[in-house]
Amino acid sequence: MKKIIVGLFSLLLVATFLTIGATIGEGAGYVGAAKCKACHMKQYKAWEKTKMATSFENLKPGVKAAEKTKAKLDPNKDYTTDQKCLKCHTTGYGKSGGFKSFAETPKMVNVQCEACHGPGSEFTQIMKKNKEFKLDEVKAAGYVFPKEASAEKECLECHGGESPFSEKVDPKYKFVFKDRLKNTHEHFPLKYKH
Ligand code: HEC
Ligand code: HEC
Ligand code: HEC
Ligand code: HEC
Repeated sequence: MKKIIVGLFSLLLVATFLTIGATIGEGAGYVGAAKCKACHMKQYKAWEKTKMATSFENLKPGVKAAEKTKAKLDPNKDYTTDQKCLKCHTTGYGKSGGFKSFAETPKMVNVQCEACHGPGSEFTQIMKKNKEFKLDEVKAAGYVFPKEASAEKECLECHGGESPFSEKVDPKYKFVFKDRLKNTHEHFPLKYKH
C-alpha cells in the first residue's frame, strides 16, 4: 500500500513539473501588434510605415503583378488562402494565437512585431509588471532579441531560400542580417537598462 501511495505521489509530481515546464517560454502564444501598440506607440507607428505592415496585400490577385511574374508566380491568382504563402506573410501562422485564416484571425495578417520579437503572451506580462525587467527574464518567456546573432535563424525562416523572392530571382532580395537589422523600424531610446 505504502509503495502505491509513493508511486502515485511521484506521478503527480512529474505531472506538475511537466505542466509548469510547458507554461514557461515554450507555451508562449501570439497576441498581435495591437497589444504592443498600447505600450509602444512610437515603434508601432514606425512599423506601420514599413512594407511588412501591408505584406498580406501582396497575396491578392493583381498586386505586384510584374514581381510575381518574374518570380514565376501567377499574377492573377488569389494566394490569400494558400498555405505556402501564409507562413511568411502573416504572424504566428499555425501556432498558438497566430494566424489561422483571414475569417478567423483577421488581426494576425502581415509581418507584425512578434515575427522578430517572438510570441508575446508571456513576455508582455513581465514587461507589464516591471519596467526594469532584465533581458534574460523575457528571453526565458519567449522574447527574441533581434540584434543577437542567434535571432538570424528566426529571420531566415522567412527570408531564406524557401521564399519565392530570393536572391536567385533578383540580387536585391538577398538577406544580409546586419544590413536588414537597420531597416526594421525606426528606433527610439529606452528609459531603462535591461
Ligand atoms: C504593458 C506594457 C507593455 C506591453 C503590452 C508590451 N511592452 Fe514591450 N516594453 C514595456 C516596457 C515598460 C519596456 C521597457 C521600456 C524602457 O526601458 O524604456 C519594454 C521594452 C520592450 C522592448 C525592448 C527590449 C530591450 O531591452 O531591448 C521590446 C523589443 C519590446 N518591449 C517589445 C514588445 C512587443 C513586441 C510587445 C507586444 C507583443 C510588447 N513589447 C508589449 C512594456 C510593454
Ligand atoms: C514571418 C516571416 C518573417 C520573419 C520571421 C521575418 N521577416 Fe522580414 N519580411 C517578411 C516579409 C514577407 C517581408 C516583405 C514584406 C512585403 O514586401 O510584403 C519582410 C520584409 C523585411 C524588411 C523590409 C522592410 C521594408 O519596409 O522595406 C526588413 C528590413 C526585414 N524584413 C527584416 C527582418 C529581420 C531582421 C528579421 C529577423 C529578426 C525578419 N525580417 C523576420 C517576412 C518575415
Ligand atoms: C519562406 C517565406 C516566404 C514564402 C513561402 C512566400 N514569401 Fe513572399 N516574400 C517573402 C519575403 C522575405 C519577401 C521580401 C523579400 C525582400 O524584399 O527581400 C517576400 C516578398 C513578396 C512579394 C513582394 C515582392 C516585391 O518585390 O515587392 C510578393 C508579391 C510576395 N512575396 C508574394 C508571395 C506569394 C504569392 C507567395 C506564395 C506563392 C509567397 N510570397 C510566399 C517570404 C515568403
Ligand atoms: C523586422 C523585425 C522587427 C519587427 C517586425 C519589429 N521590430 Fe522592434 N526591433 C527590431 C530590432 C532589430 C530592434 C533593435 C534592437 C536593438 O538595437 O537593440 C528593435 C527594437 C525595438 C524596441 C526597443 C526600442 C527601439 O525603438 O529600438 C521596441 C520597444 C520594439 N522594437 C518594439 C516593436 C514593436 C511594438 C513592433 C511592432 C509594431 C516591432 N518592434 C516590430 C526588429 C523588429
